[in-house]
Amino acid sequence: MREELTALREQALRDIAGAADLSALEQVRVAVAGRAGTLTKAGEQMRHLAKEERPEIGKLLHEVRTAVTGALDARAAELSAAAEEAELARIDPTLPGRSRPVGSLHPLQHLQRRAVEIFRRMGFALAEGPDIETEWHCFDALNTPADHPARNEQDTFYLPDGRLLRTHTSSVQIRTMECTAPPVRIIAPGAAYRRDEVDATHLAQFTQMEGLYVDEGVTLGDLKGTLEYFFRELFGPDTKVRFRPHFFPFTEPSYEIDVRAAALGGGERWLELAGCGMVDPAVFAQICERRGDKVFDPEKVTGFAFGFGLERLAMILYGVPDIRMFVENDQRFLAQFPS
Ligand code: DAH
Repeated sequence: MREELTALREQALRDIAGAADLSALEQVRVAVAGRAGTLTKAGEQMRHLAKEERPEIGKLLHEVRTAVTGALDARAAELSAAAEEAELARIDPTLPGRSRPVGSLHPLQHLQRRAVEIFRRMGFALAEGPDIETEWHCFDALNTPADHPARNEQDTFYLPDGRLLRTHTSSVQIRTMECTAPPVRIIAPGAAYRRDEVDATHLAQFTQMEGLYVDEGVTLGDLKGTLEYFFRELFGPDTKVRFRPHFFPFTEPSYEIDVRAAALGGGERWLELAGCGMVDPAVFAQICERRGDKVFDPEKVTGFAFGFGLERLAMILYGVPDIRMFVENDQRFLAQFPS
């Protein structure tokens, strides 16, 4: 039995050394140490041995088993290291990486962020409201009578349930005053919708920015100072701002704001950029009625509001000839704006 075991060891070690890969090695392991393997069988023969022989052969068997298992483990480690190395050799770490194109902010988003940032410096907070609005928030609460042209079906997108796509972001003024108390100082950028024929200067959906400031003792001087500061920050210190009397249902008095600046097409002409005014006391009265309290008592608080469109501003500022370019998602256009 001693010779048998020695032969078994030699054979096993040769087979292990000769296994070319991990699956060949696994076959060797099964053939030697598996349930029907040579080594296992040799172990079973122990019980046929004479008692005196058992300790010596047992010891030898143990040695053989240790040698074989050790060799199996060592060869397995060797083979898997070699496999890993072969895998790595297929990769060229000196190749340049694959770079992904990095996007940039949409020009309107870029302008909106700049504008919001300026108002934030003056203590305005960001506010928002839904694009689908009730007629009350969009018109009635803003002192806009039923026969006002903005309420016409031809000018506005109505839903079957009577709600509509807001025609201006002024509805956010109302939403804000419904749920907060003065002082209110908000800036609300967002989409507005009108039934306009789409052409180089019109889209059915565009972007507006609404502002509202309500407190005790807010004056027309505050309105002028705030908007002058805003336009100078946006277009540069050479900016000139002009307030031209106008009419809006929700402000009294109301103005249109014209701006001239080198940044705006050379500054040769006045550009009409925004509407504004002192909040009409009738608006505060509507809010009081809705809230059932007097925190916006028109006898106590005053306020100013303003609104402007971002597309036209961006077109002049960035020299964009056609408003449709903002929604076409043409990368040749979008890539020209730094983020
Ligand atoms: N909502 C007006 C529009 O869509 C813009 C506007 C004018 C907003 C005067 C105001 C305002 O808050 O006071 O044309």
